Amino acid sequence: MNVLVVGRGGREHAICKKVAESPLVQTVFCAPGNAGIAQDASIVDIDEMNFADLAAFAKEQGVDLVIVGPENPLSAGITDYLEGEGLKVFGPKQNAAILEGSKSFSKMMMEKYNIPTARYQSFEDYEAAKAYIQQEGAPIVLKADGLAAGKGVTVAMTMNEALEALDDMMLDKKFGDASARVVVEQFLQGEEYSLMAFVHGENVYPMEAAQDHKRAFDNDEGPNTGGMGAYSPVPHISQAIHDQSVEEILRPIAKGMVAEGRSFTGIIFAGLMLTEEGPKTIEFNARFGDPETQVVLPRLENDLVQVMLDVLDGKDPELAWKEESVLGIVLAAKGYPEAYEKGNELKGLQAIDAGSVIHAGTYADGDVIRANGGRVLLVAGSGANPVEAQQNAYGKMQHIDTEHFFFRKDIGSRAIAKARL
Ligand SMILES: Nc1ncnc2c1ncn2[C@@H]1O[C@H](COP(=O)(O)OP(=O)(O)O)[C@@H](O)[C@H]1O
Ligand SMILES: [Mg+2]
Repeated sequence: MNVLVVGRGGREHAICKKVAESPLVQTVFCAPGNAGIAQDASIVDIDEMNFADLAAFAKEQGVDLVIVGPENPLSAGITDYLEGEGLKVFGPKQNAAILEGSKSFSKMMMEKYNIPTARYQSFEDYEAAKAYIQQEGAPIVLKADGLAAGKGVTVAMTMNEALEALDDMMLDKKFGDASARVVVEQFLQGEEYSLMAFVHGENVYPMEAAQDHKRAFDNDEGPNTGGMGAYSPVPHISQAIHDQSVEEILRPIAKGMVAEGRSFTGIIFAGLMLTEEGPKTIEFNARFGDPETQVVLPRLENDLVQVMLDVLDGKDPELAWKEESVLGIVLAAKGYPEAYEKGNELKGLQAIDAGSVIHAGTYADGDVIRANGGRVLLVAGSGANPVEAQQNAYGKMQHIDTEHFFFRKDIGSRAIAKARL
């Protein structure tokens, strides 16, 4: 088979590595890819949003399966387009990708299908939103309704912060159309974790849980980011909580989507909070998570391509997972998630085995690899438990020159601290 992966980040690099392992696969193409993906796949210079060229390329090369990584093409209908051209696609259609594309749609679904989540209201009217925020009080959470590249949420600890965020979103249109509607929701306290599943209609095949580290700096300080590191499994999320999350959250949302005439095929990612009242949903994404995928897929024993084909055919894939812990540390450009420099050379990568380096924002400049994103790459380590995986990953990371880059020193520490209690 020939497989085309669409995207250019760490998630797509992890997908390409896994696809390349499949005995079913002859060639893995990735459009548009990055410098690391080029080591595992054949790079195609077509933008994720250029559906017509992607379809033409896939037909010309006899691509048997297209795997779509990012949310933007999914929300814009890439699956519908490519299927219309006769291609097989693993990813939701546009009418199902709205589960991620509109937070108010997603909250409506949770309410309608009794899926545990934070109490909320959604607003298109500024004064009404302001009055609701003042009535609810801080802490409170504001979310731009549409896609905002992981920057559209403010967890406001004070009323001032909340009202400032509302002004940014609704008056200053900080996220353009994406914040014309704003979801305001109750602040949830607890342990955050991520659970992804392969989904086809009402069939749900859960993966193992992962935990991301959203804040830029150690001890969960600094601004929210796209994710600074992750690990899997999450020892302090028990099997019982995992199962409860599948039964109360993932299965009902898949069923609800079918009931709405928006049957979902692809990956549903649930961002969850283990509260005192049990697991609650923070959000759904309509694709693999980033950086969670980079630590979950290496633990999958099955052939990923076979799993996707089975799921598309309505067959049970029977997923098996390696016992080992995998932990990934994100290297980011200094300044991220605010303004940062591009073009700096990555020095020291040669000292790390290529299999452990997942590229996110890199490009090749002759023999030199340079950064062109805020999150540049992820270094993965593994071991029998989180302590060993953490040591293994940080041991590799020390080879990288950090003049222009930074990383968190405490990825995985929550799991290790909880294990000691
Ligand atoms: N209701 C909430 N209570 C507490 N924290 C929240 C809540 N909603 C979101 N967050 C925090 O903000 C982060 C981003 O919110 P999320 O809904 O996942 O949006 P996105 O990933 O699109 O930015 C979450 O990972 C979580 O840490
Ligand atoms: Mg999120």
